[in-house]
Amino acid sequence: MSFFIAGTGSALPGTVVTNDDLAKFLDTSDEWIYARTGIRRRRVLTDERLDDLAIRSARIALEDAGVSGGEVDLILCATMRGDTFTPSLACTIAEAIGSTAPAFDLNAACVGVLYCMEVADSFIASGKAETVLIVSAEAMSKLLDWTDRASCVLFGDGSGAMVVKKGEGRLAGVLSTKPDSRVIRMPNIEGMNSPYNKIAQEPLAMHMDGGEVYKFAVNAMGRCIEQVCARAGLAPADIDWYLPHQANIRIIDASLKKFRIDKSKVLTNIADYGNMSATSVMVLLDEFAKKGTFRKGEKLLFVAFGGGLTSGALIVRWAR
Ligand code: ACO
Repeated sequence: MSFFIAGTGSALPGTVVTNDDLAKFLDTSDEWIYARTGIRRRRVLTDERLDDLAIRSARIALEDAGVSGGEVDLILCATMRGDTFTPSLACTIAEAIGSTAPAFDLNAACVGVLYCMEVADSFIASGKAETVLIVSAEAMSKLLDWTDRASCVLFGDGSGAMVVKKGEGRLAGVLSTKPDSRVIRMPNIEGMNSPYNKIAQEPLAMHMDGGEVYKFAVNAMGRCIEQVCARAGLAPADIDWYLPHQANIRIIDASLKKFRIDKSKVLTNIADYGNMSATSVMVLLDEFAKKGTFRKGEKLLFVAFGGGLTSGALIVRWAR
């Protein structure tokens, strides 16, 4: 027994930042950013808290699933950094929705939601949970170096959520890491004001080797698709909808090219939101679910890569 997706939700900051807005303080242009990435604009947190976005998206998903906070058996939150180290974002959500279920955050960078789905599957398979709330929330704008034009133009902020319930839906999953602490790195605060700390503070903003990430991403996404399809006994052509991590439209195109998939099956919204890390696939799912794109029984393939370096893919049959 596994799970099916019973409800989805998303919540985005109100502030829209276009490529032209960035060109006012960076040596860049809409032409460069769009041609290299497919991004036109992104949402950025200004006077809103990430907590509030996460709670909003969680409530929308619960309502969509017809589930109350008290009926949730487990809350998982995919994030690289919430507003507070403790309580975790998952505990903050639990408080807001009136849940006393176990709740914890999970950091697998952009693959976080896929890791959460596999953790949910294990809890459900072992009989420890029947209804799991999975939330992702990322404040990428607060982790970036806004003087580095090669990275800050790529990202956006946002939150998404899904409720999964015991039942038939998940067909297969693969997760992996190719450990590498250099190509994407976001250091934490070193030691605060500990009089004992002797480790020097690394620059706090994100460092990324874009070319290396690009090569890893194309390779990893292609491999994950092959592996997850093999596990499900399917061919890539049997998949009805592809929901790839929205990092760069060229990465999506390059990793799917060899499968010769009909392009209309590959869902994207990167033009409007940029890379929201773990949240990207959630907002993509919610957007197309709410548009009525998916039909009952159709097979959705999620695939993602991220810092760590992490990667993964999942196939879920749409059950609504
Ligand atoms: N505007 C204008 N010029 C720029 C910009 C910009 N925003 N950024 C870089 N350039 C310049 C570079 O300085 C370089 O100039 P040069 O030739 O004079 O040195 C030129 O453009 C080409 O730069 P490249 O890095 O070769 O450009 P590329 O085509 O590789 O695109 C990009 C760069 C978009 C970063 C690409 O490598 C990429 O998408 N990589 C993957 C990044 C990614 O997906 N990150 C997700 C991380 S996931 C996570 O967990 C955080």
